[in-house]
Amino acid sequence: MHTGITITEFLIEEQRQIKKASGDFTGLINDVVIACKAIASAVRYGSLVGVLGTADTENIQGETQKKLDVISNNLFIRRNEWGGHVAALASEEMNDVYHLPVQYPRGKYLLIFDPLDGSSNTDVNGAVGTIFSILRRPEGATGEATEDDFLQPGTRQVCAGYALYGPSTMMVLTTGHGTNGFTLDQRIGEFILTHPNMLIPQDTQEFSINASYMRFWDPPVRRYIDECLEGKEGPRRKDFNMRWAGAMIADVHRVLCRGGVFLYPIDRKLRSKNQEGKLRLMYEANPMSFIVEQAGGLSSTGTQRIMELQPTGLHQRCPVIMGSKNEVERVISYHLEAQ
Ligand code: AHG
Ligand code: MN
Ligand code: MN
Repeated sequence: MHTGITITEFLIEEQRQIKKASGDFTGLINDVVIACKAIASAVRYGSLVGVLGTADTENIQGETQKKLDVISNNLFIRRNEWGGHVAALASEEMNDVYHLPVQYPRGKYLLIFDPLDGSSNTDVNGAVGTIFSILRRPEGATGEATEDDFLQPGTRQVCAGYALYGPSTMMVLTTGHGTNGFTLDQRIGEFILTHPNMLIPQDTQEFSINASYMRFWDPPVRRYIDECLEGKEGPRRKDFNMRWAGAMIADVHRVLCRGGVFLYPIDRKLRSKNQEGKLRLMYEANPMSFIVEQAGGLSSTGTQRIMELQPTGLHQRCPVIMGSKNEVERVISYHLEAQ
């Protein structure tokens, strides 16, 4: 039996270091944890409880929703709307800011989430997960929270985390004091600290791309991948390995565990649809960037630190290049040289 500390113990310990902490934040994370356990359960039972397949609806991004996208979104709202910790929620699966039902007290935090990342993997029993990001509502804001309240750069995040529903269910999070990983002990229903102070190796020999888009990429990204592919015979003088899970959360988790660089860059095809990238800044790129940076990695669009982007809309997209420090720096330098 693992007797390590639970996520609640861990957060209360952290809270004790902050003199004026009210316990509000710990209460909020507690609700997020319960939401993720409920989603983990729905994901695990899959076909047995009839939750796989498409929902015949589209989200704001024009993507067909999976039944589990809708179920996960509803579970996340249900578990987080009542506690008095949040002012409002925003989700990849909802067009507008979600305002709490009138009977619930309004709190000071804004909760942003991707209820099910990599949801196309549900059909093939692949890894999926939930990503969340927490901001403080701007000082002095009154009335119901607005979209403008949410439009803060990633550097303002109070906390970011994800739950990965793989062979084990894991929760990885940061409050700005390093990145820590917890594994769900199904026997007692608690997340136990199993991966304290996660650190991404600075160098790597692994990259994560959807290679089918290669012909649409900009020259700096193509140059980086071409050089990796040349292996020992090329300028890098070492062979590289490639992995792509089709769920950012699973690909970035691998990067956190053993190093690597994850790239979902801008390409010609996205530009032709007036998209600045595929991945979403508020729901995916910012929270994963915070986690990666707190583990000693870097995260960039190629030309800008992702967490410094000023969001202009809830559903904004951006290019993403994140992971081992020296590799991301190299990709950035190729962008600089190309300017
Ligand atoms: P979501 O399931 O939340 O829509 O996100 C899927 C994202 C991301 O997780 C993944 O890395 C990427 O889409 C895969 O995109 P491609 O199918 O273009 O490779
Ligand atoms: Mn996603
Ligand atoms: Mn999603």
